[in-house]
Amino acid sequence: MAALNKEKVEARFGHLFGKVEGAFSCVLGHVGDKLGLYAALKESGPTTSAALAEATGLHERWVREWLYQQTAAGITSHEGGQFFLDDEAAEIYGTEESGVFGAGIFELVAGLVATADRLEECFKTGMGEPYDSFGSQTARGIERMMGPFFRTRLVQDVIPALDGVEAKLRAGAKVADIGCGGGLALEVMARAFPQSRFHGFDNSRMALKRAHSRAAELDNLTIHDTTHSRLEEDASYDLLTTFDCIHDMTHPTETIGAIRRSLAPDGTWFVADVHGHPSFEKNLEQGEVSAMFYGFSVICCMRSALSTPDGEGLGTLGFCEPVAREMSREAGFTRFEKHDFDNPVNDYYEIRL
Ligand SMILES: C[S@@+](CC[C@H](N)C(=O)[O-])C[C@H]1O[C@@H](n2cnc3c(N)ncnc32)[C@H](O)[C@@H]1O
Repeated sequence: MAALNKEKVEARFGHLFGKVEGAFSCVLGHVGDKLGLYAALKESGPTTSAALAEATGLHERWVREWLYQQTAAGITSHEGGQFFLDDEAAEIYGTEESGVFGAGIFELVAGLVATADRLEECFKTGMGEPYDSFGSQTARGIERMMGPFFRTRLVQDVIPALDGVEAKLRAGAKVADIGCGGGLALEVMARAFPQSRFHGFDNSRMALKRAHSRAAELDNLTIHDTTHSRLEEDASYDLLTTFDCIHDMTHPTETIGAIRRSLAPDGTWFVADVHGHPSFEKNLEQGEVSAMFYGFSVICCMRSALSTPDGEGLGTLGFCEPVAREMSREAGFTRFEKHDFDNPVNDYYEIRL
């Protein structure tokens, strides 16, 4: 064995422990989210472990150790013997309806990590797995992760920014959301624009179950399983949306072609997809967040995108702006406008024929 530099070994261990801390903070964040500890902390303001345990009906010793971990991890704060969430943390961890709620991602990570052992097989065979194999917790976690944007930005900021779209939706338009997941974006739009007709398409039974229960409450929303029912390619749609799903698809080229043929001549395809670059080196410049994106890719997005033998395998950062421009141009789209809705993860594209 080569002589090792002691300081570098120590630094490496510091780095390794940082990764372990992140994993535990995520897992315990999920536990705290599920047990209502963040919401209770937000509600109480500065409090003791005993009072928090009492408010949540949990055992004090467990709550105390959880608070120690969360405070050491920089999520909760501690002063004068009391624990609290500062104003920003209270919104991010304790307020599901907030536009900056972030704790839903813990549920998504917990759902995905539970399936991680099966990745060995993917590496050996080359074949990924479809979304359904990621479990119902993952489906709910995705919805909770995306929820804040759909609830607080979609109708308020996004639709008004798209050329002529809001007027069409008010008058009565035909809309589809492809890769609609649990259908939250559709529900928000269908409630805001009751004159319009909305269609959701997905191929995950777990996501479709959630979407169907939403559609049951609304007269203007229909959900379709793409394994049996495909988008009609009849130039009839005024608006097609794809939120963070093109990069997950086994055949994005085919889907983009179908989107083009389904859109009315003056229709709009609105895309939200992960901010990235075609080059690995450039993605690394984004810092640690690129490790998060590549992590999502291996455990979720690329795994889904390689779930058939001929899958294109774009992966989490694979439908970034230059790729989106090129693939939409090749499919026959001629107009491409990028929007900024001040989101740290996604880029947004308004694409037209
Ligand atoms: C990251 S989730 C996004 C869900 C939803 N658009 C949202 O923003 O919450 C990706 C979705 O794409 C769906 N999906 C993947 N491949 C698909 C395909 N070929 N056809 C339809 N949906 C697909 C998955 O089932 C999953 O629900």
